[in-house]
Amino acid sequence: MQRLQDRVAVITGAGSGIGLATARRFAAEGAKVVCADIDEESGAKAASEVAGLFVKADVTSEDDVARMYATAQETYGSVDIAFNNAGISPPDDDSILETGIDAWRRVQEVNLTSVYLCCKHVIPYMRRQGKGSIINTASFVAVMGSATSQISYTASKGGVLAMSRELGVQFAREGIRVNALCPGPVNTPLLQELFAKDPERAQRRLVHIPVGRFAEASEIAAAVAFLASDDASFITGSEFLVDGGISGAYVTPF
Ligand SMILES: NC(=O)c1ccc[n+]([C@@H]2O[C@H](COP(=O)([O-])OP(=O)(O)OC[C@H]3O[C@@H](n4cnc5c(N)ncnc54)[C@H](O)[C@@H]3O)[C@@H](O)[C@H]2O)c1
Repeated sequence: MQRLQDRVAVITGAGSGIGLATARRFAAEGAKVVCADIDEESGAKAASEVAGLFVKADVTSEDDVARMYATAQETYGSVDIAFNNAGISPPDDDSILETGIDAWRRVQEVNLTSVYLCCKHVIPYMRRQGKGSIINTASFVAVMGSATSQISYTASKGGVLAMSRELGVQFAREGIRVNALCPGPVNTPLLQELFAKDPERAQRRLVHIPVGRFAEASEIAAAVAFLASDDASFITGSEFLVDGGISGAYVTPF
């Protein structure tokens, strides 16, 4: 499929995981991809793999975010797709009883303030074009509670979901679609390591997922490509769950 032929896409956190898989998928569908990441090595590697452009950017810095879109516009002539995906989930963000204010604030900055900055700076380009698709990465924890809490992470993703919905409504008549992507748990090196060490813990988690496994990053990327494309032309302000059925489950099969 070449649904993104000649579209210009900016991906934050493109050096790893979901961002990297999406850079690959966007490029395969014909997009020109700007790979932004705070990590120079992985970001530059992703950009060279997809024959795109690397921009070193810290998404918590307003100057970096503004420069990232300006560079995309100057290099390729438009900014059609923004995948605001960079995020963190550090171990010192835990139960509310343990999580200190510094850890709370850091996660809010990287996961939520960054999305505010990215949307604020990309929407003016899209308004001038009369067209654009923004996909903000939230999480299934934006719609469900977990007893194994990461309190700032969960609150940040709830914020991303509410902000995306409101922007989707506000800019709908200007041809700009804004959706919140809510992935379920993804098969990452970190999870693999944890589960190799502790199969019982792995089983305790997997029991909640109707499909009985975690997502592959490429499966999340496929959903992002759909939301970015004109195939999703009537989808905006949505809570787009790609979660293997977790959020719909009461009891799962054996
Ligand atoms: N992995 C999962 O199970 C899962 C589930 C639901 C939602 N998510 C969300 O998906 C997004 C991507 O997750 P992932 O698993 O691919 O993570 P990852 O850690 O593999 O990749 C995140 C990328 O973001 C970059 N980054 C971190 N801080 C940054 C900053 N300040 N500025 C610019 N770049 C920065 C990192 O360098 C890294 O390349 C995150 O928002 C995450 O919360 C992940």
